[in-house]
Amino acid sequence: KLYIESYGCQMNFSDSEIVASVLGNEGYTTTTNMDEADLIFLNTCSIRDKAEETVRKKLNSIKHDPNKKDNVKVGVLGCMAERLKGKLLKEEKLVDLVAGPDSYRKLPELVDDIEDGQKAVNVLLSREETYDDIEPVRINSNGITAFVSIMRGCDNMCTFCVVPFTRGRERSRNAQSIVNECNDLYQKGYREVTLLGQNVDSYRWSDNPTLRGRALKEAPRDEVIDFAKLLIMVAKIAPNLRVRFSTSHPKDIIDEVMYAIRDYKNICNYIHLPAQSGNTRVLKKMNRTYSREWYDEKTARIKEVIPDCAISTDIITGFCSETDEEHADTVSLMKQVRYELAYMFFYSERPGTLAQKKYEDDIPESVKKSRLKEIIDIQKTINIELNEAEIGKIHEVLIEGVSKRDKNDLRGRNSQNKMIIFPKENYSLGDFVKVKIEKSTSATLIGKALEIVDY
Ligand code: 5AD
Ligand code: SF4
Repeated sequence: KLYIESYGCQMNFSDSEIVASVLGNEGYTTTTNMDEADLIFLNTCSIRDKAEETVRKKLNSIKHDPNKKDNVKVGVLGCMAERLKGKLLKEEKLVDLVAGPDSYRKLPELVDDIEDGQKAVNVLLSREETYDDIEPVRINSNGITAFVSIMRGCDNMCTFCVVPFTRGRERSRNAQSIVNECNDLYQKGYREVTLLGQNVDSYRWSDNPTLRGRALKEAPRDEVIDFAKLLIMVAKIAPNLRVRFSTSHPKDIIDEVMYAIRDYKNICNYIHLPAQSGNTRVLKKMNRTYSREWYDEKTARIKEVIPDCAISTDIITGFCSETDEEHADTVSLMKQVRYELAYMFFYSERPGTLAQKKYEDDIPESVKKSRLKEIIDIQKTINIELNEAEIGKIHEVLIEGVSKRDKNDLRGRNSQNKMIIFPKENYSLGDFVKVKIEKSTSATLIGKALEIVDY
């Protein structure tokens, strides 16, 4: 039995489903009970120091857990495995197996190795691996929404980010295999797919074998399947299969993606467009390759093409040398865009990144945190205001599950990715319903279902 716990981004959760599939072929079934597991895997994240700390704590607690099976083996997968490599085995003797994000096909052999008490490591990164032929085994699934990975790695080299080092070079997955996976999910009753990539706007695929690597990147749009075309291919599977995607990059998102969202009702009106900072000098230092003006133009264009599109962001406070005035530009950006959702962090220096090598991490933690608190408070006010404005309106909701607070309530999301709660009545998971909003909090809308939407 395999117990697998995922940390960090959605890509990691999706990768764990690849891992479950690879080991499923070897006779392993997944369990949600660690005590009955023969293999415990943690699929880890390195994005901030705190993420790694959480995993270390978990590894220690597993080591000292009296209830675990006698011969249980522990493996670390994902970004921390890639970053720390063999060190994880030597330093602390907490793990038996270390497998980086591109090595999951090799897990059967690695698991064989550790069964005889040896240690196993594979942290080779690949330029080709996309696991496109592996059918993921859905873990903790609600049977309605699923993640589908469309590309791996990242070539952007933002100076603060460890991802290019832990996940390797960017590569896109065969478009047909993506469509097949989504179609298969639809046939099984799923009603929403989220297409995942570190930078979905640079997705590119061609069946022409001469278009690979640089040639693929440089080929004209009409010779390749780019992200806008892929979105439409998936949207055409069925009108009642919702399509979401994450993450968009402000430098790469193009009008055609916005047109696809506008023209296909089932492509959700929601774009996660991380700004990171509202100040051009800081953006340059982060190597985001766009300016504040460019970002402003992109958000304005999105609102022009898709007036009711929700935009969300990621923000980092206290990046190397950020001044109070530069931080004020981030504040002004947030007030200007009025994001539907913001993931906010204070800068955490990561070993091996360009920022760590080139810049001094010179903003005191107290300043980083007070800047963070300031933007969190602003965002909260914005969320309260945005949600209050929804009272009285009617939204189409895909029902994903039962409310965590009250089992007589259902929960789902509207196209803009807003969580909406309402009394269960006779509605079921997977239904699309019209819900009239009656109340709101900063994070959710609460209402009453009016009727089922027939597709
Ligand atoms: N420190 C703080 N936040 C970071 N992120 C990435 N690297 C760091 C770092 N070193 C944030 C970025 C990114 C999100 C996934 O995590 O905002 O978009
Ligand atoms: Fe990291 Fe930048 Fe790539 Fe996102 S786009 S994964 S922040 S390097």
